Amino acid sequence: MTDSRFYRPSKKTFKLAVKKLNDGDILSFPTETVYGLGADATNNTAVAKIFSAKNRPIFNPLIVHVSDTINAKRYVIMNTLAQKLASNFWPGPFTMVLPVKKNNGLSDFITAGLDTVAVRVPKHKVAQELLHIFDGPIAAPSANKSGKISPTTAAHVDSEFFDELDMIIDGGVCEKGLESTIIQINENGIILLRPGSITQEDIEKIAGQSVKMNELQSGSPISPGQLKSHYAPNARMRLNVLTPKPGEAYLAFGHNIETLNSLNLSPTRNLIEAAANLFSMMRALDHLKIEIIAVAPIPAVGLGVAINDRLERAAAAKGPIE
Ligand code: TXA
Ligand code: MG
Repeated sequence: MTDSRFYRPSKKTFKLAVKKLNDGDILSFPTETVYGLGADATNNTAVAKIFSAKNRPIFNPLIVHVSDTINAKRYVIMNTLAQKLASNFWPGPFTMVLPVKKNNGLSDFITAGLDTVAVRVPKHKVAQELLHIFDGPIAAPSANKSGKISPTTAAHVDSEFFDELDMIIDGGVCEKGLESTIIQINENGIILLRPGSITQEDIEKIAGQSVKMNELQSGSPISPGQLKSHYAPNARMRLNVLTPKPGEAYLAFGHNIETLNSLNLSPTRNLIEAAANLFSMMRALDHLKIEIIAVAPIPAVGLGVAINDRLERAAAAKGPIE
């Protein structure tokens, strides 16, 4: 029975979830960004199950989720700048790639051979509760098959994994809807590896220094998972479209176009609302099995940078449409 995979947050649910983590099993849980596919980050076999369930390439490292900054410091070295950013943006949709500590106890699959680890303190009540009760680090990528659209509801997760996953803690719709902002701090300063709802400007304001954008090189991106093509729907995507062609589905922003298969990211042109709706509306239009999803222009300011980043990767999956 499908329903048996969904669990409402409760004492009993958390108890079972922690047992699963301790037994080396994987489960899905909500964060304020997207749903994660979690495992005990210190358990090699458990972490390997994540890679296998997602069909994730082994060279792509995972984010380690911890309950607070004190626990983050068990795994990474935090300089003054990292601490400052942590005290402003944690808990929240913010991930830092920092030098890994020696003898950290994490599974080798986490770092994929790098000398850094990505750490995040999520804010979502369910994620926080799980981390507190489990009392250890949880490795969690987004709970989707590798290269596909990230899940913002428990039902999205279920539709990716079906029988491969027997526990999804249902915490409702994810508030932010886009994955966390990722930065790396190194000798070159702060590099933005993945834009998200904590924007470049937000970080610069706190850091008191400029944040460099990560150049997407064709060779080896610093963030191995930030491949040019990602978030791929089955349909092709046509971006910056003001007037969709007949037969195309349309993802509008603000101004509504009278087409049959249209959804509006935000009728009032609110970027926060658009970000929260993006992945679920992409999924919904993709379900129509229409060949092309045309997408309205989204202003590339503030949160719009992150929205455009996801759209461009989604469009890159199947190549340009002339
Ligand atoms: O919002 C999020 O961040 C969600 C929730 C579940 O926390 N997680 C998530 O994880 O989006 P994932 O695995 O789908 O994306 C993490 C990204 C990948 O692109 C990965 O390559 C990159 O972070 N990453 C992880 N560790 C890294 C490291 N040490 N250096 C550079 N990039 C790293
Ligand atoms: Mg992902």
